[in-house]
Amino acid sequence: MDRLLELVKRAFAPVPEAAAFLADWPAVTERREIVAGTLPVCDWIPELQAETGPVDTAVVVAQLQQVAADLSWRQTYGAGDFGAAFLRGYGWSEFIGLRGPVPSARIACGVLLLAPGISYPSHAHAAEEVYLPISGVAEWQMGVGAFVQVPVGQAIHHPSWTPHAMRSGDQPLAALYLWRGGDLAAKSVIL
Ligand SMILES: [Fe+2]
Repeated sequence: MDRLLELVKRAFAPVPEAAAFLADWPAVTERREIVAGTLPVCDWIPELQAETGPVDTAVVVAQLQQVAADLSWRQTYGAGDFGAAFLRGYGWSEFIGLRGPVPSARIACGVLLLAPGISYPSHAHAAEEVYLPISGVAEWQMGVGAFVQVPVGQAIHHPSWTPHAMRSGDQPLAALYLWRGGDLAAKSVIL
């Protein structure tokens, strides 16, 4: 886990929009006990491709694959939100925050997983967010703009309450995220 956190922080380091989040990065000596838990989407973790990009995301993918079974994989939504098919292909694990193994009330950091062919409909939240795709080719939408393909290693910044949506292609998507401001454990507002 220490190694994963170190690699995640290093992956975000060249991202200008992540600087304010990294300033609040907690000391990793403090730990919260977490209960490992898996989800259907975790079946895709071994399939994640370690691609090279502008930042060193390949090492993050490899380390994530190594420790994935020890992590707590969770979902914010229920079947009533985006349907049962979405829940079979969606999940996240928090590394830092109000629930993850490293406590912080200032930032949250973790990874989002989407199985191939999953559409994550438009939603918004008070927290400001930076996403960093580390595996898979996904399309992202901000506001009512067009969906654009975002390659691995290209950060996406969502200011507070900016609506956003994403959809995975024919590969599973893994994207690191950072949150700050607002309720760090809030469920997003579905639009
Ligand atoms: Fe978000």
